[in-house]
Amino acid sequence: MPSALVWATEQSARAAICRGAEVGDEVNREMTAMEPAQRVVVVDFGAQYAQLIARRVREAHVFSEILSHTATAQQVLASEPMGIILSGGPKSVYADPAPSVDPAIYESGVPILGICYGAQLLAAQLGGEVARTGRGEYGRTPLTISGGAEAGSVLLRGRPGVSEVWMSHADSVVRAPEGFTVTASSPDAAVAAFEDPERRIFGVQFHPEVAHTYRGQEILERFLWDVCGCAQTWTSASIIEGAIKDLRERAPAGRVICAVSGGVDSTVAAVLAHEAVRERLTCVFVDTGLMREREGERVEELLEGKFSVDLVHVKAADRFLVALEGVIDPEEKRKTIGELFIRVFEDVARDIGEARYLVQGTLYPDVVESGDMSAATIKSHHNVGGLPEVMDFEIIEPFRWLFKDEVRAVGSELGLSRELVWRQPFPGPGLAVRIVGEVTPERLAILRAADAIVIEEVKAAGLYHELWQSFAVLPAVRTVGVMGDDRTYAYPIVVRAVTSDDAMTADWARLPYDLVEKLANRIINEVPGVNRVALDVTSKPPGTIEWE
Ligand code: XMP
Repeated sequence: MPSALVWATEQSARAAICRGAEVGDEVNREMTAMEPAQRVVVVDFGAQYAQLIARRVREAHVFSEILSHTATAQQVLASEPMGIILSGGPKSVYADPAPSVDPAIYESGVPILGICYGAQLLAAQLGGEVARTGRGEYGRTPLTISGGAEAGSVLLRGRPGVSEVWMSHADSVVRAPEGFTVTASSPDAAVAAFEDPERRIFGVQFHPEVAHTYRGQEILERFLWDVCGCAQTWTSASIIEGAIKDLRERAPAGRVICAVSGGVDSTVAAVLAHEAVRERLTCVFVDTGLMREREGERVEELLEGKFSVDLVHVKAADRFLVALEGVIDPEEKRKTIGELFIRVFEDVARDIGEARYLVQGTLYPDVVESGDMSAATIKSHHNVGGLPEVMDFEIIEPFRWLFKDEVRAVGSELGLSRELVWRQPFPGPGLAVRIVGEVTPERLAILRAADAIVIEEVKAAGLYHELWQSFAVLPAVRTVGVMGDDRTYAYPIVVRAVTSDDAMTADWARLPYDLVEKLANRIINEVPGVNRVALDVTSKPPGTIEWE
């Protein structure tokens, strides 16, 4: 998920950003101080399976890098990985074309673990047999260790004879390649796990990375720690140390700017950058007027107060409101906000003067999803989303290698509060995308007040951290009501609360009725201009989380 800033500017910036370098330009692979010497490469066969595996590897304190399956063996091996994991994927090995991996990797001597599609692929490539048996398995499935719990499989050591795993496959390995031992089976997959410990190649049909697999993380740890011999050196402390070293190397002198939005990524990036370059850092907070209640003060209290960071607080609400006058179309709204944001930022940067570096909170999933996945051909769009290169800054992305949960852990380690580190996401264009129709000062005031009540009550109910997001939306209709003896004709507020793991999909949250009742009462009684509250019970898909 892009940082709030990245998103804020995304619509208009993307085009501008790429001006400096054509997407697809190849640049030399530079190892940065952020990247530890030991790593495991996760080969991605699509549909984001690889990201979860890569995160689980990091949780085992081993650095992981995701590469596309189109990478050559030379590219996969370029960074001298300690191990290679072939991910699952949505395709069949019988698809035409079927995503594949350069079979030369099997001769490299580097340990390999194939998961689901990855297991089928390595079975097929090494001379085993994969078949469409017509008996796929989906969901929780019992896994039986061949020969019982004591059988001595390297990967499955210590597991009970029968345990639950997560399956999701249509094809099955029906014969393991020569030299491999079948180490586990399931009701509809006779070869659910197979291994050749001598060659250090392993395949599992199930998904050890999925939480529903009983002690799945331990299977990954067996592979990483015991088979690959990885040291457990990837920790928040080592990430911070590497990032600070990298920042100092890349910005040895001169002013460094960091745009902050109040969100987790940009705030942690600012605090980290401050650790690295101290008084050479200036943070810029552009208050678009589309922020939540007290947002600007909060940012000031934290950065100027707690961390003594030099902060420029740009109060640009008037400019944004004027630009948004009469704008109703959601895309036009986003574009207007994004473009103006850049203009305001450019003005400030000019005033700050000699700034040479711009720190951005771009995360690893943004980099992976933008197609920048080949170790040997990192493409020169180092400014994945964000502020335009035409501003002549050197862009520094300390989180370019990090997943969101790692940024949170870094934030905690740097002394940021749990409240900030676990803040729910907030869109860069702010409240504007939660106001259907025109954004006016009056409508902003209504939404901001209702939003503050939603957050306050959700927190009071102890649900804030269980929800991915919870907020208020202001539709562009008014309805009739009666308050006291008077007829009212006022706005409804829609309460939107969702659970999600990654915002790609989301479920509407089943808020307790007493909380819903409290929200409705408070919003109607305390927010002038509102006479009705509705609850959004739409999941994603078919809805999106935001209304615009
Ligand atoms: P949707 O509405 O697409 O949102 O389901 C998915 C997640 O992305 C957030 N979001 C944004 N975040 N700038 C951001 O920083 C944006 O323009 C933006 N649009 C959506 C949204 O809050 C949700 O978490």
